[in-house]
Amino acid sequence: MQTIPVNTNPAYAVTIGPGLLKKCGQMLRSAVPPCRAAVITDSIVGPLYLETVTESLKAAGYAAAAFAFPAGEGSKNLSTLSDILEFLAKERLTRTDCLIALGGGVVGDMAGFAAACYLRGIRCVQLPTTLLSAVDSSVGGKTAIDLKAGKNLAGAFLQPAAVLCDTDCLRTLPPEVFAGGAAEAVKTGVLCDESLFALFEGGTLEADPAEVIARCVAYKAGVVERDEKEQGERKLLNLGHTVGHAIEKCSGYAIPHGHAVAAGLAIMARASARLGWMSPEGLRQNDAERICSTLRLTGLPVSTEYAPEALAEAALADKKRSGDAITIVVPKEIGHCELMNIPVSELLFVIGTGWEA
Ligand code: GLY
Repeated sequence: MQTIPVNTNPAYAVTIGPGLLKKCGQMLRSAVPPCRAAVITDSIVGPLYLETVTESLKAAGYAAAAFAFPAGEGSKNLSTLSDILEFLAKERLTRTDCLIALGGGVVGDMAGFAAACYLRGIRCVQLPTTLLSAVDSSVGGKTAIDLKAGKNLAGAFLQPAAVLCDTDCLRTLPPEVFAGGAAEAVKTGVLCDESLFALFEGGTLEADPAEVIARCVAYKAGVVERDEKEQGERKLLNLGHTVGHAIEKCSGYAIPHGHAVAAGLAIMARASARLGWMSPEGLRQNDAERICSTLRLTGLPVSTEYAPEALAEAALADKKRSGDAITIVVPKEIGHCELMNIPVSELLFVIGTGWEA
């Protein structure tokens, strides 16, 4: 078992290891003393793990209630948020109580945002059950729902009270869901650490996901500690996401987040190489191809059927836009990326340069 501190205000710990759901009640007692705990989950994760979690909570002195919504990005909207808030009110949760997000990225985002809104903010614990939520979305306090205009357009920052990542949950993931999480892990390797990236080239992700999760979380914790509200450095974590969110939106959210981010990362890597933004020396010229090969090896797409014009149009609603400029994340080499502010009018050119059918 590994524990990674996140020194935000308030601080919390991310614990990673096997068998954590069975003992989640005991493990949470120091971060959130026994109270009413509303477990928010979805129609896929609930039948797998809800009973284990509620039994553990009750054994540790919590009063547990549960709310499940239909699984999938299509539920990440105002209607589900409203249902959750009404449920919390019906259960008479107070400010000393807590929400527990049991599931993947959609559950974590939804439950986190409900916790941030209800009574102007109550505590939220994250129990990530997918690789994507383990390596990325359960840590750092971003919560959100989608609006018709685009992804994650209404949300709040609410750091969790604790994160317990039970690596046994990864065993039940369908391969395509596991791959979706791998996209965020590969993204982290491209951002910060060539040796982490090399693990994916060598197939370590499947063999030792706990090691990869711990390294991704440790990197993200440092970024979030330095820039909790995404004023600067944290924008780097959006590598591949401007195009990725556009792909998700164009597909009506039929393409999962991780797969869309993988294609977005590949497009940005090729654009960077072709525009001469990659570090000029030696092997770095091959980095875009290394990134694409690794994504393919992991079962992820490196292209999209949506035309650059459609993607650029969809990206206009992106949060990373500020007036007539948009911040893109540019891979300079594997292990190092930079932020670049470009006029919105140039986004189509950048996407078109990296785009492949
Ligand atoms: N997923 C990007 C972030 O948490 O900032």
